[in-house]
Amino acid sequence: MCGIFGYCNYMIEKSRKDILDTLTEGLSRLEYRGYDSTGVAVDGDSDGSTLIIKKPGKVAQLKEEINNTLNFEENNPEFINHVGIAHTRWATHGEPSVKNSHPQRSDVNNEFVVVHNGIITNYRELKTLLLNKGSKFESDTDTECIAKLFKLFYDTNLANGIELDFNALTKEVLSELDGSYGLLCRSSHYPGEIIATRKGSPLLIGVKSEKNLKVDFVDVEFPDDNENDSDLSKLQKMSKHAQDDEEKIYFAPLVNGNSAANLRYSQSRAFLSEDGIPIPIEFFISSDASSVIKHTKKVLFLEDNDVAHIYDGELHIHRFKPKQDGDKVTRPIQTLELELAQIMKGDYNHFMQKEIFEQPDSTLNTMRGRLDFIKKTVKLGGLTNWLPTIRRARRLIMIACGTSYHSCLATRQVFEELTEIPVSIELASDFLDRKAPIFRDDVCIFVSQSGETADSMLALKFCLERGALTVGIVNTVGSSISRSTHCGVHINAGPEIGVASTKAYTSQYIALVMLALSLSDDRLSSLERRQDIIANLQHIPKQIEQLLKLEPQIKQICKKLQDEKSLLLLGRGYQYASALEGALKIKEISYMHSEGVLAGELKHGVLALVDEFLPIIALGTRDSLFPKVVSSIEQVIARKGKPIVICNENDEYWMAKKAQENSIELIEVPLTSDCLQGLLNIIPLQLISYWLAVNKGYDVDFPRNLAKSVTVE
Ligand code: F6R
Repeated sequence: MCGIFGYCNYMIEKSRKDILDTLTEGLSRLEYRGYDSTGVAVDGDSDGSTLIIKKPGKVAQLKEEINNTLNFEENNPEFINHVGIAHTRWATHGEPSVKNSHPQRSDVNNEFVVVHNGIITNYRELKTLLLNKGSKFESDTDTECIAKLFKLFYDTNLANGIELDFNALTKEVLSELDGSYGLLCRSSHYPGEIIATRKGSPLLIGVKSEKNLKVDFVDVEFPDDNENDSDLSKLQKMSKHAQDDEEKIYFAPLVNGNSAANLRYSQSRAFLSEDGIPIPIEFFISSDASSVIKHTKKVLFLEDNDVAHIYDGELHIHRFKPKQDGDKVTRPIQTLELELAQIMKGDYNHFMQKEIFEQPDSTLNTMRGRLDFIKKTVKLGGLTNWLPTIRRARRLIMIACGTSYHSCLATRQVFEELTEIPVSIELASDFLDRKAPIFRDDVCIFVSQSGETADSMLALKFCLERGALTVGIVNTVGSSISRSTHCGVHINAGPEIGVASTKAYTSQYIALVMLALSLSDDRLSSLERRQDIIANLQHIPKQIEQLLKLEPQIKQICKKLQDEKSLLLLGRGYQYASALEGALKIKEISYMHSEGVLAGELKHGVLALVDEFLPIIALGTRDSLFPKVVSSIEQVIARKGKPIVICNENDEYWMAKKAQENSIELIEVPLTSDCLQGLLNIIPLQLISYWLAVNKGYDVDFPRNLAKSVTVE
């Protein structure tokens, strides 16, 4: 997950080293979000120049790079007014590399540099237009378009004799952007000034001064109604006019001339100076309060379409869009009462709850840039060159522990169906205990959230020693498993902090399905099936969002289950994995004995446990095994069991059954492809485990005896 940090000092002397320390320290506070590269931009040595330092990897490596690049002993200039920007990047467009790290720049002279969170969805169109206007691109990122737009508009306005202020220029740029952004920009044309703006991606500004600021809020400056009124974007118009060779005529009416533009923006009031006398002040701008709180608890949260412009120690907030009913006219300066851990949890009480609720986003992030929902194709960048070898494998062996093992179990069938290669799944510890035979033509797939689990790591070593090809399906970039495997896929779920794994499970599941789709995309016979799976994957994030609304019903169910000693979860086929994973979640955080049972095995022993008292959750969603699952659940009902059934919405069979047997409780989930149904069925089970533990007063995020990353055998 990308992170933004910006620092601005005014009338306070800071050395370049102090400034870079503040920036890198701010980035360290964002590390928990996960990232793969970093970068900073500060003032260079000559007046108005900008120095950019970027590095793939961790903040520690960036610090090393800074120390190697700059000799602070010999050259450590002081700045009384300075703006620095910094970024941690989680790759979306373009691999982790220096060129793709942020800050991104407008040109080789670094005239405009930006750091950006979010995704510019029209960047391809913008890039084409910018290339036509002569821009030279250096990276594969969407962000670079933003820096280039700043320069293009700056230069074009200047050529027409118009000197826009930084805010007015920013608004011209923003009017071209579709998608989401949290954005900081600094420019050698506006020294000591910074722009911070957002749409769909958070940004806040911390304010710190030795003086008593006496400021409770900042007024918002709204644009005139006739601003932003162009229906065709300026860039498109420019291209059009460039063709017609009429550029100059076009520009004059659009910004109402230089003086009008300046006049309009000079009306912004200065809020953080006393009677016009500047005061020493520092601003800390970030996507995350965790990196600001060390410096100040006084913060102001920007809203979508706010453009914050800081210069001369003053903070001005402009609106990019004309005023609408309900728009607030001030941004209060609030005092953060929360501690760091609480801030990182946002509005949630526990990391686990936050992570459960993040799944609409985390699942989308796993698919982002990999699935093309229009062409119905999949592309896993980290595997492209390896696919032919993997397809020739004698066997696919999936190796993992705990929840990660369950994601292998959940997807084994779709691998077998699509690839027609024999697939086995192994618990890493058992695999090692048996010293299972491994051959050079085996492909071993290691699935791990942390990428550091000792059992999985040892099993990986074992397979490498025997010459097998190894593939990592890992969440943590730079972890041991992701570094030691030949190739792999990062699941991009974002950092998982709660000990009980939730969002990593759904993302691993999707990554594995995408791998199965990729491996079989040379098979015409399964084309229709693959396309159907891809079409259904597209709906998963929204369906999860819908499922999370079941929380009130789940809370009611948990009140009834709370004092039970034991719980059975029944599933079959694809849903056996859901039963095991649901049972594991319940065990580990609510300490209730729970067991996932293969429904087909019920009559071979477990049925002896069933009576009117034993609570049972049955996975009764539709797939080819539905009649068999129904038969198992009927056996439970026949023994006076009162199952809670997870079924599809408005399922005729279960509706009729409920009408007959009121004691059955139904949890209704949307229908999807059989091989994806487990992604939805697990959501109510995660919520059940969470609420059982909360009701019992247990520490959900740190259950007894368990660690997040099991780095011992
Ligand atoms: C359960 C859980 C564990 C992990 C297991 C493997 O909620 O989190 O079962 O899944 O310890 O860990 P990773 O995936 O990091 O290898």
